[in-house]
Amino acid sequence: MAIEIIATGRAVPAQRITNADLAKKIDTSDEWIRSHTGIGSRHIADENTSTSDLATEASLRALEQLVESGRADSVEEAAASLDIIIVGTTTPDFNGFPSTACLVQDRIGAKRAGASDIAAGCTGFVYAMEMAAGILNMGSQRKRALVIGAELLSRLINWEDRSTCVLFGDGAGAVILEKTEAPSQGPGRRGLMRSILGAEGDGAEHLVLRRGGTRNPWKKGEVVELAPHIEMNGRAVYNFAVRAVTETIETLLEQEGLSAADLAYIIPHQANARIVQAAAKRLNISEDKFYLNIEEYANTSAASIPLALDEVARAGKLKKGDIILTVGFGAGLTYAGNIFIW
Ligand code: ACO
Repeated sequence: MAIEIIATGRAVPAQRITNADLAKKIDTSDEWIRSHTGIGSRHIADENTSTSDLATEASLRALEQLVESGRADSVEEAAASLDIIIVGTTTPDFNGFPSTACLVQDRIGAKRAGASDIAAGCTGFVYAMEMAAGILNMGSQRKRALVIGAELLSRLINWEDRSTCVLFGDGAGAVILEKTEAPSQGPGRRGLMRSILGAEGDGAEHLVLRRGGTRNPWKKGEVVELAPHIEMNGRAVYNFAVRAVTETIETLLEQEGLSAADLAYIIPHQANARIVQAAAKRLNISEDKFYLNIEEYANTSAASIPLALDEVARAGKLKKGDIILTVGFGAGLTYAGNIFIW
């Protein structure tokens, strides 16, 4: 049995904010943002949109692919065939519960599916893939999983803090995993090959959303000067990220007996192009091997990897049998990566 990706989808808000737009409001410049991060613009949701809206839209695009590929007669039938839905997000519709996954489950009509969120910062999607694969493998009756990375980070940004507000954007990406009859080992091997999940909880303070949880609850009568927002020690996260990306790629390739030349693409979490460039240099891997769309979307946290994967796939840049490596890192601190055959 192999766990294969059989469909992908993405959703990005229409509103596009360029660096020049931001420079009209805060003390920054297109030159600084591009040279320090590789970001040129970001897409920002309107006030009526929430994370589950983007997640639902990305999911519907993926479900439509099941119809196009003849695996289902309708989107409704495709949705009803799902056994589990997992959403990687740091920006759920509701703080705590219900999960964003349950909202998506209702919206798409996935009547038979279990649903749950996972909070692993920007690494959420890679964690979610692994959880979904495990859940499919555990239950013989289970066949299909919908795995989503969805974020509305623009709601958690202090738009007056130039050191963070320029970095983030909104979006969602989704994949459908299927447990197939193909072999997961040996000749003709398909699907997910290997993964690494890691955490360095001692770095929790480097990337934190302080307000609203049980450590820092809202108090009656409190006057809120500033909405809850991301606080980040950029330098510490940067150093962690370069190390985590480098070591995760190195270990995955080594354990699988592969070299970079065997990979069609490395799809990294898109937080800062300089992190990818630094890791590529350390690994002696050409930067061309890494798929980057950060210039257009900025950092969409747990959405960035599935969003990029859908973009690559729909651009016709992948062929069956291609080997892809994804690598994520983020709040927690967490890191993770996986290798799969397209
Ligand atoms: N425009 C202009 N100047 C700026 C801006 C800006 N937008 N932001 C910071 N600066 C200034 C600073 O004030 C500082 O000025 P000073 O020297 O006069 O004090 C100078 O630029 C350098 O600032 P640094 O913070 O040292 O800049 P650095 O080169 O470290 O880049 C950055 C900052 C881009 C944030 C980098 O540290 C980084 O990318 N870190 C990793 C971020 C990351 O990956 N986050 C992941 C989030 S994932 C999740 O789970 C949500």
